[in-house]
Amino acid sequence: MALQLDIPAQISPQIPEIQTLSLSDYGKRLPGSPVREILSVSQQPGMISFAGGLPDAVVMPELPQLSSQELASVVQYGTSEGERLLKQQLVSWLSGEGLACEEGQILITSGSQQGLDLAARLLVDPGSEVIVEDPSYLAMLQILNGLGAELLPFTLSGHGNDLDALEQLLQTRQPRMLYLIPTFQNPTGYCYSEQERIDIAQLVDRYGVVLVEDDPYRALNYDGVFTRPICHYVKQSPWIYLGSFSKMLWPGLRTGFMVAHPELYPYLYRAKQATDLHTNRLGQLLIARFLQQGTLPTHIEQLQKHYRSKRDNMHRLLVDYLPKGVSWQSPAGGMFFWLTLEADCQRLLQQGIEAGVVVLPGSSFTIAADGNRCLRLSFSQISLPEMEEGIKRLVMLLS
Ligand SMILES: Cc1ncc(COP(=O)(O)O)c(C=O)c1O
Repeated sequence: MALQLDIPAQISPQIPEIQTLSLSDYGKRLPGSPVREILSVSQQPGMISFAGGLPDAVVMPELPQLSSQELASVVQYGTSEGERLLKQQLVSWLSGEGLACEEGQILITSGSQQGLDLAARLLVDPGSEVIVEDPSYLAMLQILNGLGAELLPFTLSGHGNDLDALEQLLQTRQPRMLYLIPTFQNPTGYCYSEQERIDIAQLVDRYGVVLVEDDPYRALNYDGVFTRPICHYVKQSPWIYLGSFSKMLWPGLRTGFMVAHPELYPYLYRAKQATDLHTNRLGQLLIARFLQQGTLPTHIEQLQKHYRSKRDNMHRLLVDYLPKGVSWQSPAGGMFFWLTLEADCQRLLQQGIEAGVVVLPGSSFTIAADGNRCLRLSFSQISLPEMEEGIKRLVMLLS
């Protein structure tokens, strides 16, 4: 089961053993997020962390300069769907990525994390079935577990996914949602081929399930293979496509977006109204101004160059240092290596913290699969010397 991480007591705010509060079922069920909880450990002096998936601040562009008039224009409440200027820019960017849509289908969210939460709250009741890749993004598992969803996993490895198993689930169960991260998946780094996307879209249409496609890593594409969003291929079923500026630009501005099938859009719009009225306008304006400058393509090339070199260094170091029996696929994009090894990775986390290296055991991401034999290593933020030292520390624990 996911999210059974044994986080050392000093790291996360502890829930008291004796419960005096009358919480909702959601409040009682909601698990913590291991990644966010070990962030504070990762920040301890001398610690080398492969745990978080933080973008590298070195490649974040300078924020655009805003005039005092422009600043004054965003201090008032804004619209729930988001700033028009930003939505216009998005329509054009998305069409280049293979997803044609209209402004009226876009909702600007507080990070794509909020989009996931809105989508899940609209579609999932306690006991609702939701199909997810196994392993999957742990903060979505956190949301779904909090809502009391029954998770139906289908296997995803570094080599691909089991579409027969997916079809079997669609045939025999009544899922409210199919949640996928098809492009440089978190945590495996896997990117679905164009054919897999077409096949999945056909399954989605055949069985009428709502597809939620989570696509925050699309721009971090290192080997130049272009793939269209699966939503592009869906003909009839309702779908929700989620994107983010966190990995492309500035995660601290908490600005993401959702594009929704017209049937679903009005419900998502209401959910957004009820949640926070609208997304922070200053962040939206800064991003819209940056996009207006027309330098996004050059910026994305720089990002790709920067992270490609980190990915290649990490791969070389893993080849050089790791013992036989550890396996992985070098990811074609995104921020993570997914390792399979013969070790108790929960223990490795605890021992690693003592040895000054933080890793994330796969059990934080898996549902039915044995995640305790897997590790997710992030290469996005770490410098080359730290990477090498961190891998040496890890190897010491493995020998
Ligand atoms: C698969 C996936 N979806 C969504 C998110 C949330 O991103 P955002 O910063 O846009 O909320 C992340 C963040 O790491 C992620 O890995």
